[in-house]
Amino acid sequence: SADTTLPPLTLQLAAPRGFCAGVDRAIKIVEMALEKWGAPVYVRHEIVHNKFVVDGLRDKGAVFVEELDDCPPDRPVIFSAHGVPKAVPAEAAAREMVYVDATCPLVSKVHIEAERHAENGLQIIMIGHAGHPETIGTMGQLPAGEVLLVETPEDVGGLDVRDPERLAFVTQTTLSVDDTAEMVAALRARFPAIVGPHKEDICYATTNRQEAVKAIAPGIDALLVIGAPNSSNSRRLVEVGRRAGCAYAQLVQRAEDIDWRALAGISSVGITAGASAPEELVNEVIDAFRARYAVTVNLVETAQERVEFKVPRVLREPA
Ligand code: F3S
Repeated sequence: SADTTLPPLTLQLAAPRGFCAGVDRAIKIVEMALEKWGAPVYVRHEIVHNKFVVDGLRDKGAVFVEELDDCPPDRPVIFSAHGVPKAVPAEAAAREMVYVDATCPLVSKVHIEAERHAENGLQIIMIGHAGHPETIGTMGQLPAGEVLLVETPEDVGGLDVRDPERLAFVTQTTLSVDDTAEMVAALRARFPAIVGPHKEDICYATTNRQEAVKAIAPGIDALLVIGAPNSSNSRRLVEVGRRAGCAYAQLVQRAEDIDWRALAGISSVGITAGASAPEELVNEVIDAFRARYAVTVNLVETAQERVEFKVPRVLREPA
């Protein structure tokens, strides 16, 4: 706009941000399933943690349910990107349901790791957040009670393990890189024989989004993370921003959530988006700034991503 009365503001736009390859694939799976089988297609849990995405798919004929019991046996069902306990596909198979697993391949990789460790006689410790669907799914690859969960370094001290010489650890893919390094250090200090992945199981997308926030944090007055309150990786981005020195860091689902009063007097704002937040919402937020400020957008790119995952074969074949 030519309105010169608007105050100047720089938006530091973090890259990479937003959709990761696993989220992209999961959404595509629902869309392709709707094309192949028609509506309704059932989806167990939010396919990805974003209301905007879920609402859009619901409009196209997806029905979101909490449990398999809520699905009719004669319609296809899709399992969310976060992964599911082994019992879920087993039950779907027992009921002769058509199901498509949208678990991110990088989560499946952790599932396979956990199983392999268990086959080798190791007890598994999972670093993750209690109650998050990914944690439930990964722990559910083994019989109940087999995997021990730790959320904080303090939890490590309280672990009651079968044999300290025969342990392995796995992690949720969307954790804070720095917190997890601390957790792994605490595990290795108490159980020197513990085996685990080379670093941890945190995925490339989580790592890259956190790195990008660290790069913009020193030069901004405020950070807005576009993402859902139940999105683990989005919440970690807020924490990473705060820890990197950004006093005001907030999670917003979309432009209407921005607290303009809290931003009064600032001259630069960092913007990023969690792995399940569509770019449409980033643009909506930028537009909301443009309506109030003379905006200069500065892209800060700390990595380039070329990861892509194929959808399951059943969806690539004609009906
Ligand atoms: Fe997969 Fe990482 Fe995205 S585990 S779903 S690529 S945040």
